[in-house]
Amino acid sequence: MCGIVGYIGTKDAVKIILTGLKRLEYRGYDSAGVALLNDTSNGHLTDNLTILKRAGKVSELEKLILNQKSAIAEATQGIGHTRWATHGVPNDVNAHPHTDPENHIALVHNGIIENYGVIKQKLLTQGFTFRSETDTEVLTVFIRSMYDRVKDLTEAVRLALSEVEGTFGIAVVSTLEPDKIIAARRGSPLLVGVGDGEYFVASDASAVIQYTRQVIYLDDDEMAILSRDGYATKTIGDETTNPAIQEIHFDLASIEKGGFDHFMLKEIYEQPNTFHDAFRGRLLASEGNVRLGGLTPVLDKLRRANRIIFTACGTSWHSALVGEYIIEQLAGIPVEVEYASEFRYRNPVITPDDVVIAISQSGETADTLAAIKEARMKGATVIGLVNVVGSSIARETDAGIYLHAGPEIGVASTKAFTSQLAAILLIALHLGRTRRLSPREGMDIAQAIERIPEQIQYILDHAESVKKIAEQYTDARNFLYLGRGYNFPVALEGALKLKEISYIHAEGYPAAEMKHGPIALIDENMPVVCIATQDEIYDKIISNIQEVRARNGNVIAIASEGDKRIAEFAEHVIYIPNTLPILTPVLAVIPLQLLAYYVAVQRGCNVDMPRNLAKSVTVE
Ligand code: M6R
Repeated sequence: MCGIVGYIGTKDAVKIILTGLKRLEYRGYDSAGVALLNDTSNGHLTDNLTILKRAGKVSELEKLILNQKSAIAEATQGIGHTRWATHGVPNDVNAHPHTDPENHIALVHNGIIENYGVIKQKLLTQGFTFRSETDTEVLTVFIRSMYDRVKDLTEAVRLALSEVEGTFGIAVVSTLEPDKIIAARRGSPLLVGVGDGEYFVASDASAVIQYTRQVIYLDDDEMAILSRDGYATKTIGDETTNPAIQEIHFDLASIEKGGFDHFMLKEIYEQPNTFHDAFRGRLLASEGNVRLGGLTPVLDKLRRANRIIFTACGTSWHSALVGEYIIEQLAGIPVEVEYASEFRYRNPVITPDDVVIAISQSGETADTLAAIKEARMKGATVIGLVNVVGSSIARETDAGIYLHAGPEIGVASTKAFTSQLAAILLIALHLGRTRRLSPREGMDIAQAIERIPEQIQYILDHAESVKKIAEQYTDARNFLYLGRGYNFPVALEGALKLKEISYIHAEGYPAAEMKHGPIALIDENMPVVCIATQDEIYDKIISNIQEVRARNGNVIAIASEGDKRIAEFAEHVIYIPNTLPILTPVLAVIPLQLLAYYVAVQRGCNVDMPRNLAKSVTVE
């Protein structure tokens, strides 16, 4: 949700910032902008702050920059931003960077300043004026008012931020004190890239990896002051900090499309590997058990838990729902699943004997972070299942399991979902073995998990058949997704994938609930995706499919390989390999991801950057 990148050094800042913005564009793409300072290494005051910004994608900004190239050719320092609009419509004026009225201070911001109204009123009475409707401009002008008082940029930023309520990741440059970038965060991710005589600031590592692997993840209420000679860090409370420099562990190839048309497709195709990476070194197949080093500090607590509460949003919430079914089945521990956004505001009953498991690809989702804080405040132990290493959720939890899925760039989550399921399966297997599963049962599950990567590959090798089905439904206005048991959450996930990237209205439903309402929607224009894999409720879902057929609905069935019967009831059948019922969600979701992808591509939608969405939702 908004991407920030900044550079100070001796190289072409425009090129570095634009490249970084393109890599961060998945975080928001309503508008983009840069603030550039020409070479100020002589340290004199300068008025050469150039602001260029445009509504629309980074490519629009790039065109603008190409026209202005001569004015900024010398820039070796600057900040850039790609925006997901919160306050103010996405137009040129509301785009970041924002400046003070005299254009001496430029600021980019990710987050929301909640008390901006009060601050704005105060500034208006002091005679300051505003050009945009944004909370960010208010913060910029607020810093300027502080500067007028203290005549020190770092101190002005610090003082302003200590009065601000809400969330922020910011980067600031100024002609008043050139040769400096000031960065700070509270609730929005920000890191400093440490190079040789050059420094970077970015919302995530993908923007800097091309130049350095050494990064510092800023903590909440921490600021960094970057110059060409080095950096310093301190808290907004004015205490010096000494954060560790960490190494980025993914490579450049993992954030490039690698020959695929879209990141989403690449990520779908990565799943044989990413699923494997999630259990590699953790699954002890010969013992029918698992080793989860990241959970060591909380393992006893988890084994003795009275109750497990999953909390998450979106796709991660769907994997949590699968988790409820699997853990209750294998371990007999009561499980609840909560939308993080609801959990935090409804005073949930939590005891110190509860274990809360927060699931998040990005590790930055504001609602999930807030739910974690609520749970910890009430004494629960909190575990994180997170993909992004060093992210806020990874750091806020008592222990956790990293998904090791690599960077997920496509806004529609795919590989993170199956990796989340892998992590959940490992926890469920472990808890099951401590409670009710025999070693033999554990071994059967472990062996079935080991077969999953090649089974995913098998489905991907037959993607062409899904594409053909997709072509027939490009003009559909609605879709219904039905599933039961472990596959009910998969139906929800299939519907979410379709609606977010193709803008077709889609609903996921427990198959048997259909007759309590949604059945009224079914006619010859309604495609109904039914997940009907062979398990103990197979006959029940066949009955539900017949109910759809009786009303002329078009059934697209996801069925187990070898199921000869299903073709009688369905217009189209997509077969997936046989596995244990608890593992079917991992396989059943793959054709649904492909279906959504191909429908969206056929409709000409931008699947990697669907309208109104952003990859990580760092605002409430
Ligand atoms: O990064 P998180 O897993 O916490 O994100 C949660 C949701 O915002 C995310 O899953 C969202 O629903 C995706 N766009 C789904 O494809």
